[in-house]
Amino acid sequence: MKKIIACIALIMCIGMVHANDTRIRFTCLPYLQNVTDTEATVIWATDRDAVSWVEIAPDDDSHFYATDRTKYFDTTLGKKNIGTLHHVTLHGLQPGTAYRYRVYSQEVTKNVEKDTRYGSIAATDVYRGKPLKFSTMSPDKHGVHFAVVNDIHENSGRYANLIQAIDSAKIDFMVLNGDMVNNLDTIAQAYNGFLNESSKLFATSKPFYMVRGNHETRGTQSQKYMDLFPTGTGNPYYAVRYGDVCFVMLDAGEDKPDSDIEYCGLAAFDRYRTDEAEWLKETVGSEMFLSAPIRIVCIHVPPVGSNWHGLLEVREKFIPILDRAGIDLMLCGHIHRHRFVDSDESGFSFPILINSNREILDISAENGTISVDVSGEDGTINKRFSFPVKR
Ligand SMILES: [Fe+2]
Repeated sequence: MKKIIACIALIMCIGMVHANDTRIRFTCLPYLQNVTDTEATVIWATDRDAVSWVEIAPDDDSHFYATDRTKYFDTTLGKKNIGTLHHVTLHGLQPGTAYRYRVYSQEVTKNVEKDTRYGSIAATDVYRGKPLKFSTMSPDKHGVHFAVVNDIHENSGRYANLIQAIDSAKIDFMVLNGDMVNNLDTIAQAYNGFLNESSKLFATSKPFYMVRGNHETRGTQSQKYMDLFPTGTGNPYYAVRYGDVCFVMLDAGEDKPDSDIEYCGLAAFDRYRTDEAEWLKETVGSEMFLSAPIRIVCIHVPPVGSNWHGLLEVREKFIPILDRAGIDLMLCGHIHRHRFVDSDESGFSFPILINSNREILDISAENGTISVDVSGEDGTINKRFSFPVKR
């Protein structure tokens, strides 16, 4: 018996030594957010507390190891952050320019008073593999080419199939139109559900714009949403100008009344949507919006098709503002099937295209037309749409 206990203790001890010997590793691969003509933010995660940085190099023939590269650290108020989720904003970049980059995290093994100690480093490969690479936006850009996926619900296999169904090398960015996870009880659900797949397929070189679905509002970690998907407004609703297009990304919140038992007394979306409507009013009166030849709204919950509370709130609070704003197209998800609703059916001043959870929208917006290919997982184009721009 003593031998068995000693043996178990040894195995446990070996396990602990092994655990302590393992190196820091990435739990979420790098992905790009908020790429503008002069800035880009890189986000990733590690399994241990670390300080983090990104090195950038020009996109030339030199080896990444040719010289010390410019470092940008993950900092707040002038000090390096220690944590497992890392954000580095690269700023002062040249418009319309390609950059190579490498991501680093060094484990912090101790941080007590004046005693800070460091462990191993995790870094993206520039030796056997190629450095990561992205380009800043060009101010001369007019036409925009992007793709839209929604309602993946952590099915990363289907997500990969949909991205691979189009030529993602040709798009400027992706739009993820909500319900990418089932909930955010753990942040790892976002990493494993779609973020790591995004990084492998496109997100180290092309950014994505996230639209919050009702399922991203759920779970004990859902209040960390903005840490994963930072925006210019500090809220999940925001507007971006990309070439000729102004995108307005709206957050419909939850679909049932705030008092529903499913929300455990924690929902307060009625007030949230009222505040969002105030922001929307200002946004559709802004120079960025008014000067855009093409105006596209993305919102997870469509404002048609049922009489659930969240939908009725969208109809009451957002639609009157959008109806007068000269919107060219609204893109939605949520119902897990394709549906097109024209103005005659809805009574709204713009068409609504609802994407299913098994198709990807491949969209070009240029020269007064928005063209949409709706493709299945096997790459077959199932439907085609063409929308004239109003101005
Ligand atoms: Fe949904």
